[in-house]
Amino acid sequence: MIQDKNTTTIIKLEPFTPADFGTLISWIDSRELLITIAGTVFSYPLTDLQLQKYLDDKKSYAFNVVDVEQSKTIGHAEIYLMDDGICKLDKVLIGDRSNRGKGLGLVLINELLYYSFSRLGVRMVELNVYDWNVSGMKCYEKAGFTLNPNKKMFTKTDGIEWVALNMTITRDEWDKRHNIDRSRHLNPNFSGSA
Ligand SMILES: CC(C)(COP(=O)(O)OP(=O)(O)OC[C@H]1O[C@@H](n2cnc3c(N)ncnc32)[C@H](O)[C@@H]1OP(=O)(O)O)[C@@H](O)C(=O)NCCC(=O)NCCS
Repeated sequence: MIQDKNTTTIIKLEPFTPADFGTLISWIDSRELLITIAGTVFSYPLTDLQLQKYLDDKKSYAFNVVDVEQSKTIGHAEIYLMDDGICKLDKVLIGDRSNRGKGLGLVLINELLYYSFSRLGVRMVELNVYDWNVSGMKCYEKAGFTLNPNKKMFTKTDGIEWVALNMTITRDEWDKRHNIDRSRHLNPNFSGSA
């Protein structure tokens, strides 16, 4: 578990199950928010059926974000395993609006990166974020992501073009930020205490 110095909240990732569908659906109160977190993968309104399909994808690790002290689910996130030792962070959401902007997003991203590099053993993590999503981008930059100038995606929502930017962080970059020296350990996936 990683705790950011700016917030006292400790979070953990727990598997997202059908029992959690209602909570996620209750947070998605607009089509814009659904597209913001998931692009065009889902259609609004989100349904149990769509979420069941999402859960059935074997390359997808879907998580509840749990506030440890309160034993309460406060958000959602997905790690999607791609080819070539790369995974993608997706569907990142701090559920209640009143919980946003308090540093929880950064704690969550650090937790997802820890899981990706140390448990899944990937060499690079990427994500897509819409260019107007300042809090998202700031949060990712603070966690060590940088913009990948070679990849951009364009979608039209209600006639307006949404531009998604691609951001990446490599395992070497993550290790440096957290003073992890993997060469000192027999297990190449060893994370040390980040
Ligand atoms: C994006 C999201 C996960 C970020 O989590 P968060 O807990 O709100 O973010 P944090 O509190 O960690 O803030 C990260 C940084 O962004 C800044 N920030 C937040 N909102 C901002 C805004 N509207 N304008 C400018 N900066 C903003 C914060 O101040 C912080 O920077 P700082 O530490 O230098 O002050 C969360 O806001 C969210 O769930 N948003 C709705 C869904 C979404 O956009 N998901 C991401 C899809 S890619």
